[in-house]
Amino acid sequence: MLRLRQPPPEDTFPPLPWALEATRFGPELSAWFVGQAETMFALANGHLGIRGMLDEGAPVREPGVYLNGFHELRPITYGERAHGFPRVGQSMLNLPDGTPMRLYVDGEPFLLDRAELLSFSRGLDMRAGLLERRVVWRMPAGCRLALRTIRLVALHDRHLAAIGWELEAEDAAATVMLCSEMALRPPLAVDPDDPRLAEPAASKRVLRPTGHEAAGLRAVLGFATEGSGLLLGCGMDHVVEDASRLSVSPEARCQEERAEILFQAEVAPGRPLRLWKALAYHYDGGDGATAEELRERVGRSLDAARRLGLDGILAEQRRRVARFWERADIEVEDSDPHRQQVIRWNLYQLMQASERVEGHGIGARGLTGRSYEGHYFWDTEIYVLPFLIYTNPAMARSLLAFRHGMLDKARERARELGHRGATFPWRTIDGREASAYYAAGTAQYHINADIAFALRRYVEVSGDATFLRSHGAEMLVETARFWRDLGFFSPRHGGRFCINGVTGPDEYATVVNNNLFTNLMARANLRYAAEVAEAMRRDHPRDFAELVRRTGLEDVEPAGWREAAERMYLPWDERLRIHPQDDSFLDKEPWDFAGTPEDHYPLLLHYHPLNLYRAQVIKQADTVLAMFLLGDHFTPEEKKRNFDYYDPITTHDSSLSVCVQAIVAAEVGYMAKAMEYFRFAAEMDLSDVGGNMRHGAHVASIGGTWMALVQGFGGLRDHGGRISFDPRLPREWRALRFPLAIRGCRLRVELRHDVTTYRLEAGAALTLVHDGTEVQLSAASPVASLPTPKLPPEPVSEFPPAPHPAPPAG
Ligand code: BGC
Repeated sequence: MLRLRQPPPEDTFPPLPWALEATRFGPELSAWFVGQAETMFALANGHLGIRGMLDEGAPVREPGVYLNGFHELRPITYGERAHGFPRVGQSMLNLPDGTPMRLYVDGEPFLLDRAELLSFSRGLDMRAGLLERRVVWRMPAGCRLALRTIRLVALHDRHLAAIGWELEAEDAAATVMLCSEMALRPPLAVDPDDPRLAEPAASKRVLRPTGHEAAGLRAVLGFATEGSGLLLGCGMDHVVEDASRLSVSPEARCQEERAEILFQAEVAPGRPLRLWKALAYHYDGGDGATAEELRERVGRSLDAARRLGLDGILAEQRRRVARFWERADIEVEDSDPHRQQVIRWNLYQLMQASERVEGHGIGARGLTGRSYEGHYFWDTEIYVLPFLIYTNPAMARSLLAFRHGMLDKARERARELGHRGATFPWRTIDGREASAYYAAGTAQYHINADIAFALRRYVEVSGDATFLRSHGAEMLVETARFWRDLGFFSPRHGGRFCINGVTGPDEYATVVNNNLFTNLMARANLRYAAEVAEAMRRDHPRDFAELVRRTGLEDVEPAGWREAAERMYLPWDERLRIHPQDDSFLDKEPWDFAGTPEDHYPLLLHYHPLNLYRAQVIKQADTVLAMFLLGDHFTPEEKKRNFDYYDPITTHDSSLSVCVQAIVAAEVGYMAKAMEYFRFAAEMDLSDVGGNMRHGAHVASIGGTWMALVQGFGGLRDHGGRISFDPRLPREWRALRFPLAIRGCRLRVELRHDVTTYRLEAGAALTLVHDGTEVQLSAASPVASLPTPKLPPEPVSEFPPAPHPAPPAG
């Protein structure tokens, strides 16, 4: 079922465990390189992101250089407005591109797609933390040249990127001219038919120059945005290894939107030309810096880079990347040699999205592409935070603190919608709701409970109770208030607490009553808020007083939240013995899967929303997601019947779906299906499953790949902070190994078909549950090896399978 939309031929990527390297380039691959590869080879550190444009700056399809959070405002225009519709949206901006190094040999331009290539390789070295390209080609006049370039986005200084460049003539001398530039690119075209792409701000020139300067090999540009009032400084500097080689002394030249510098030299066999370029990007993140100050910051980053030197930067990068792998690597022993590579590429993307994200959120495509305008969604809390909580708790905390920083705007939004408490935006950069379609936006109130859920998991797994009191409790109080106000005790449902007019994760069923996922998550939110408020009142009176000061919490409120939670209405169908996704879901007509052509997926691009809303067709895991997140609220029988019912009617038109489906399939016992869904999740981008990889990597699915490995096959659950494993190692794998950070300890888990081993690598003591049995690890007794439970026989579905929908899309 896995489908490569524009497949690079089989032999293009050798199965290297630590690298993803294309070894060929040819006319048949040209479109792929100037498209998907710009995403596949994107580099980022969570703050600065640079897509994988070719070194010469052309040909190029969707060039992108981004700073997390650097955005412009844009009006949202509606044909018909209503109260509470957001008027202003936000778009992440494309910044001046400092990657182009345009090369001319004896006056002729070198362009990859035109050159007579003799050898080629380009790939990510996932241990060195860089992108490397090696090309040997023959110029039309006959001389052969070899060019090696490296590019990295630094982890040690999150404003910095570096490019190494080395050219050698292999048989005869040649005169070369290298034009290194930093320039604003023309705006990209928008596709008004794809809701995931439309980004009007980026289709116009929105950066206003604020000044520039050039000196020696350095140039610095300054810009400002009109609406969001942000200031940007960016610059480049160069170091030439042997400057006496240059025939003309180079001098940087600057205009408002463009800087360039020309290097000219003779290259001859044995006398390569080597230089490197540092790029720095800074913006004013609300600290009041002036345009000059930002240019100075750029200068200081460039100075620091020069002092460290390229070798120093490379060493620092390698050291930081090694630290990441130490915390986060997952190993699989499998007969498929590509598997490890695919898994590592996914983990590497998680590093690129999060490692230096402090102070920001994580966009739906990280910093790898323009899709979804750089907006932060629930993707972070539900799909990426699990990975961070278990591998980099400090960054998980930072992301939750970032949400906390949005609380005032969330309070305002609740007031605007006529509610108490706070409601977080469905999609945003600056904290304000930026979703123009309320049915699949604002109505996804579940984001409030998703944040509360992630907070609880962070606190319980990391043990950071201080954060709960300093930041978490305030978010819990305001979200619980919101739920209590949004729902009501319905006489028609026996006085149960109902929440109407909401959209759950499934965006093909909008503005429904009593979405099971939402009600369950809201219940957890309400209960946790009451629990935390009461515990603080009892045990931490000073913190509690501060909480009351900040929120105006009244004594009676927690009891009201508890009451709503205890009387929460949860839809149940006795005849089918399943949980209906919402009150009306089972009344709907079945979707005609048999009559849906394969090229009509994702359905959202081919059917009016109303057609989708009135049918039993699901975009992405919804009830199935509830069964994973809140698995302790379902019996095994309910899980199986629900899964059997919903699985065949789920299209996976969202990339957030298959990873969750894999986890629950594994839990229920459908190992073949779990494996198939896992492959979809893991290869979502590398096999371009949705056909839209060129617009950016699917970060939620990437986080979901970690979840599918550790929580699906590893069987890790943490309900109520109790760490348990119910391993489900796929038959085709020999072993699965992963590290976890839990309450200050480091645990390493190894699953084999006969034995599962838990090793406490750091920390005093840890209690976990393996296949129902409690296991205690301590520094004195750090290892436990226990029999791996046998995989149960594949179960049989309780419901007839609907004709299976087409492969998932993005
Ligand atoms: C999904 C949402 C998701 C968004 C951004 C949509 O297609 O339905 O659940 O948050 O993409 O990834």
